Amino acid sequence: MFLGIDVSTTATKALLLDPSGKVAAIGKASHTLQTPRAGWSEQDPEQWWHATQHAIQQAIEKAGCKATDIHSLGLTGQMHGLVALDREHRLIRPAILWNDGRSEAECQEIRSALGLEGLVQHTGNDAYAGFTAPKLLWMRKHEPHHYDRIAHILLPKDYIRLRLTGERATDRAGAGGTLLLDLESRDWSSAMLRALDIPAEWLPPTHEGTDITGRVSADAAQAAGLPEGIPVMAGAGDQAAQATGVGATNIHTFALTIGTSGVVFAPTASPVFDPKGRIHAFPHALPGLWHVMGVMLSAAGSLQWYRDTFTPETRFDALMNEAATVPPGADGVTFLPYLSGERTPHANPSARGAFTGLSLAHGRGHLTRAVLEGVAFGLKDNLSLLAEAGLPPPAELRASGGAMQSPLWRQVLANVLEVPLVTTSTTEGAAMGVAMLAGMGTGHWADVAEVSGAAVRTGPVIEPNPNRVDAYDDSYQRFRALYPALNA
Ligand code: XUL
Repeated sequence: MFLGIDVSTTATKALLLDPSGKVAAIGKASHTLQTPRAGWSEQDPEQWWHATQHAIQQAIEKAGCKATDIHSLGLTGQMHGLVALDREHRLIRPAILWNDGRSEAECQEIRSALGLEGLVQHTGNDAYAGFTAPKLLWMRKHEPHHYDRIAHILLPKDYIRLRLTGERATDRAGAGGTLLLDLESRDWSSAMLRALDIPAEWLPPTHEGTDITGRVSADAAQAAGLPEGIPVMAGAGDQAAQATGVGATNIHTFALTIGTSGVVFAPTASPVFDPKGRIHAFPHALPGLWHVMGVMLSAAGSLQWYRDTFTPETRFDALMNEAATVPPGADGVTFLPYLSGERTPHANPSARGAFTGLSLAHGRGHLTRAVLEGVAFGLKDNLSLLAEAGLPPPAELRASGGAMQSPLWRQVLANVLEVPLVTTSTTEGAAMGVAMLAGMGTGHWADVAEVSGAAVRTGPVIEPNPNRVDAYDDSYQRFRALYPALNA
């Protein structure tokens, strides 16, 4: 068996993949999130370690196998978080997470220090408050007593690697999200470290996703119920792992993931980026592959908020049935999905959502439909940026996440994005992706084509309806005009 561990924001998941590529079991243990101030988001890394132990035990029990059946494991998890450690590897403070907005001022400082062009040239990316480097600068300014004790910094899943193996290491896909990686060489950027005055020795060595970074120690084997000495692969940041888990590992197959956030992910054969930094550009989980991606912060999260706020007693399928009776374009109602601010294409934590075009003629079905369309339009904005960056249109989008459960929403998405959506049956794509990397890294599968053929199972294909794609032209233009108008 190959084990994939995903240290996500809400829970740690442990997925066991059998040697034929079938998921044998998934274990899961929840985390809590601290919000000490509005816009802040923190977690205790020790909670991840306890959750990891529980999730592994649960997966082993559910699979009805023995711990000794586990041959190797891979790690994935929430990207961008800052775990600060002292010389003895003790935690200095709670981790500051990817969805924490406190470091907007430091993003401006980084842009001024390097110029947007220089910053993007080095890293492939603009500075986002969620990324790791701005958080470090925030600590330097606001918590100097903590900053002065830093000897090492790690990403969230790499804290679990440290607990499992005693080694400090990270993967290159995840390292991209720190804003300290040189996109082309796939290693730490001395130019960035110099410009921001961050000591290089704080950073762990970087590895490709299938590299072995260490072995499970005797202590960790005892605590987590794993065999001592099994190899731990570098793995990948959650988006590159998710793309691997759904088979988006070639330049013709993009991934679309709609959970709370919405992600459009495109593998590239060389480092590609947007000179204005409006999309993210990181290494992919496999050597010789990179990716660009757009990240919307409120995708299915917008629908959840809408239902919970206005009509909590109504089931999602009832809302969808009402929305299905409303024509494309929602009879003039437009929804902007920037309820948590936005990352791409508008790098603005203060962006806000809106409903516009309301009249007495509109009912709940119109509003629901406008939410589904607004999210689809936000994703189309991101897909357009990938095209502007010079990528050829995808042959297909491997689609996963909660939104794919709704036949109406997935058809709206296919029609708006004008690309066939290939659904996948993997519910835990990121954990699956790193279990696949664990199998590859130990030579059980020869390459990514072989492991994808064995493990990735696709479901129904949703083709754009040729009679419907034009129906969104006007409403998409209305949507495009709204953000600049409200931000004027
Ligand atoms: C990617 C991103 C999220 C987090 C949390 O850039 O911010 O995917 O990794 O899952």
